[in-house]
Amino acid sequence: MGRNYILKAYLCTVGLLAAVITYRLGLITTNSFNIDLFFFIVLLLANNRRSIQTESGTFSLNYPLLLPVMAFHGPLMAAITAALGVIELDEFKDPLPVIVHNRGTIALSAVLGGMVFQTVNTQHGFTLAVAASAATYLGVNNLFFMCAKLVQRALAHTRDGFLNDLLETAKTLIPSAAMGAVFYYTYIYFSVYGLVLSYLFLLALRSHTLFGLLDTTYRIALIKSLLRAVWAKDPELMQHMERVAFLSGEIARQYGYSPLKQRALDEACYFHDIGKLEIEDEILKWPGRLTQRQFETIKTHPERGARFIEEIPIPLRNRKIIRNIVLYHHERWDGKGYPMGLAGERIPLEARIVAVADTWDAMTSQRCYKEALSTPDAIAELTRVRGTQLDPKVVDVFLEILDDVLQKEGKQADAELQSKEQYTSASR
Ligand SMILES: [Fe+2]
Repeated sequence: MGRNYILKAYLCTVGLLAAVITYRLGLITTNSFNIDLFFFIVLLLANNRRSIQTESGTFSLNYPLLLPVMAFHGPLMAAITAALGVIELDEFKDPLPVIVHNRGTIALSAVLGGMVFQTVNTQHGFTLAVAASAATYLGVNNLFFMCAKLVQRALAHTRDGFLNDLLETAKTLIPSAAMGAVFYYTYIYFSVYGLVLSYLFLLALRSHTLFGLLDTTYRIALIKSLLRAVWAKDPELMQHMERVAFLSGEIARQYGYSPLKQRALDEACYFHDIGKLEIEDEILKWPGRLTQRQFETIKTHPERGARFIEEIPIPLRNRKIIRNIVLYHHERWDGKGYPMGLAGERIPLEARIVAVADTWDAMTSQRCYKEALSTPDAIAELTRVRGTQLDPKVVDVFLEILDDVLQKEGKQADAELQSKEQYTSASR
């Protein structure tokens, strides 16, 4: 039986089971239907209209919008509102089992969050009730999501830490609870219309320039221009970084990296050799074979790089992936790499990906100490070090997409050449 069928069966079973439990639990709670619920559903739909928004925003407004429903209309109503409103338009493109799973589990998270709110509110007061119900809603919701990811990863035989995801969710807990309280009181004092107005106000804040400044795309542009200036003296190294970023991104896409992780990886590639800044040109541009001592100096660049990035303000969620790449991109699959001598899957996946991209680019480009290899020779060499120097699976993935990548790279190079020609003719 295919892996896909097992995953689909799992998703359907969990989704349907969650829906049944939600309904049974909802029946034992106090609920009241009110026309306001339509407004809540519309606000939730507006909040989730595209997936990218939840990733670039600081936290999601789903829980804050559901809290007044839990408090005033009951857990079952909150579950129905959540199932209908907390949906991204992209989700309609997903296979049916994914939709069933997500609708069922989101409803169960809301009904449990609502029940916790009702119980704690009567016994311990509002503040504790909001905190507990936010933790329940976010916790249950993420637990199901993580389990589904775990099943998917187990079936695909890949491993990638999801502890990071959990940490990201935990960080949203306090702002979610606080925002929930704001919406709760807005709803009491200013009715649902007040809530719509405060939501619109928040939307306006979200798109404010201040948030735009922190936008990753902007930061990448900033980093690139910074590095361009730093490496004005060594354009070869700068081009190498750009190509490694491009190749790594193409490989990472095959591993289903989220747009957010993909951007962090892109950013990280521009830093991967940053430690070389501290190494003298004399060694870096040495035309012949390096002496043992020179090589020992070169080998310090990952640790120097890791120290360097600790000093620059990178958001926490990107910091780990950047550090992993800077520090571990010279580790080898067989454990004979540097600086730590990590082996196999103990080397973070992103570093294994960059290692393949880095090796490929080093082989196929001309350096002051060597000629470039032809594509067939480079493929042969990559296959030779598959399983010793490099992760065999990542090499396989790379070789599978190589034709595509070379084509894209060719197009990009042509476009760059064209724009350079335009620039030179215009500046004459
Ligand atoms: Fe390096």
